[in-house]
Amino acid sequence: MTEDPTINRQPAPGEGGTARPTVRVGLLGCGNVGAALARLLLGDAERISERTGMRLELARVAVRSVAKERDVPGLAGLLTTDPWQVVSDPAVDVVVEVMGGVSPARDLLLHALRAGKPVVSANKELLANHGGELWATAAAAGVDLLFEASVAGGVPLIRALRESLAGERIHRVMGVVNGTTNYILSRMSTSGATYQEALAEAQSLGYAERDPTADVEGFDAAAKAAILANVAFGAKVVAGDVYREGISGIGAQDIVAARRLGFAIKLLAVVELGQDGSLGVRVHPAMVPHDHPLASVRDSFNAVFIEGDSVGQLMLLGRGAGGPPTASAVLGDLVDAAHNLAVSGTARRLELHEVRIRPIDDLRCAYYLSLFVADRPGVLSAIAGVLGAHSVSVRSMEQDVPQPAGQVDGLQFEGEAHLVFVTHPAYERDVQACLHEIHQLGAVRRIANLVRVVGA
Ligand SMILES: NC(=O)c1ccc[n+]([C@@H]2O[C@H](COP(=O)([O-])OP(=O)(O)OC[C@H]3O[C@@H](n4cnc5c(N)ncnc54)[C@H](OP(=O)(O)O)[C@@H]3O)[C@@H](O)[C@H]2O)c1
Repeated sequence: MTEDPTINRQPAPGEGGTARPTVRVGLLGCGNVGAALARLLLGDAERISERTGMRLELARVAVRSVAKERDVPGLAGLLTTDPWQVVSDPAVDVVVEVMGGVSPARDLLLHALRAGKPVVSANKELLANHGGELWATAAAAGVDLLFEASVAGGVPLIRALRESLAGERIHRVMGVVNGTTNYILSRMSTSGATYQEALAEAQSLGYAERDPTADVEGFDAAAKAAILANVAFGAKVVAGDVYREGISGIGAQDIVAARRLGFAIKLLAVVELGQDGSLGVRVHPAMVPHDHPLASVRDSFNAVFIEGDSVGQLMLLGRGAGGPPTASAVLGDLVDAAHNLAVSGTARRLELHEVRIRPIDDLRCAYYLSLFVADRPGVLSAIAGVLGAHSVSVRSMEQDVPQPAGQVDGLQFEGEAHLVFVTHPAYERDVQACLHEIHQLGAVRRIANLVRVVGA
């Protein structure tokens, strides 16, 4: 027997229950998040023990390469390249998964849960696609599966939704949940950079991957939206159910027009309950009014805005990514899981039920439309006619002529006008029908963009 009490050991007579139980942690992955967590567990053990009343002992760590430099003092003897050794080790009480991806993470976590080991995971891709199966397995085994870091990194959002707001009737949860795209849009807004310039800058600073598709096309945010739908609404939603558009179509002229009209453009994940009980779950760029709290979320920060019957409106803001902030969220879960294990309890179960997911066509909101047209008489009235025929009414319209008519080498050419409309609330299906017809008008050269207005 070791000197420390283990989680299974009852206090000896006379100890008065004051001995701190030791919980042994098996770590799957030691990259950005795993290394930051390992540094905390190995380097700050005494403070964590005093704060939490238990000892968290890092027992084993799985990585792909043992030879890789990791800058984590005390780690070397714990490493293995076989993650199955970690989940199967009887000396591991709790498993923390920060390796990412679906395979082999899914099988490893199912194995750990079935063996009665609580699991903490930061893996949004895994949870957004296989969360239902994993939570059901955890419930059947009577152990925790905690996942605070999977949405908005260091922002304690999941716990707020699951615990503080457990009885709240939530209407809508929407947020800036991808720091890379928020950084790009912020730079486009503050420095006038184009999308490509801002993306290149984000890549050079390490905010964006070399292949940025998962972030800029909204896949990462869609996974988080699915998890938010699970947690805030108990809805059986997976990443593939989420309507998704990214930011690669946002141009500098949209950012400028948005600012002039009193909006900021943000990539939003929105989960909202309809009056008929259906759930809208979507990710797309959105025009957010400047006085809305989400409009001021800058750079790589994340923020989630929650609206409920009794609580009204509240927003949580913080670092949505990065090793140390994410490790902080993982550590919070680990402390909870360890505590629950020591007292033979578990966190509240996450029960998911089927919901009708509202198609994007049924969305009703205001829209920003940006069109380039031939600068000739009658174009505006033709466009207004199409909008009117589909019951889409216009709240404001702006026109500028970036390319006036002129002559080159004796040849007359027609000018081009840029039209920007903001509509009153309308159905998406009507607006899309308008765009289809407007596109057929001979004088319309290009439909540059459609951006939904949210939070007005
Ligand atoms: N980074 C963030 O800011 C952040 C924020 C929120 C959530 N998350 C989530 O946290 C998880 C980890 O992210 P990360 O940025 O820390 O990833 P990362 O830097 O790529 O680290 C992944 C780690 O897992 C190890 N690994 C991967 N596959 C393995 C396998 N088959 N067997 C053994 N080890 C394996 C890697 O080993 P090697 O080191 O030897 O390559 C590495 O140590 C992901 O699910 C991510 O979505 C990350």
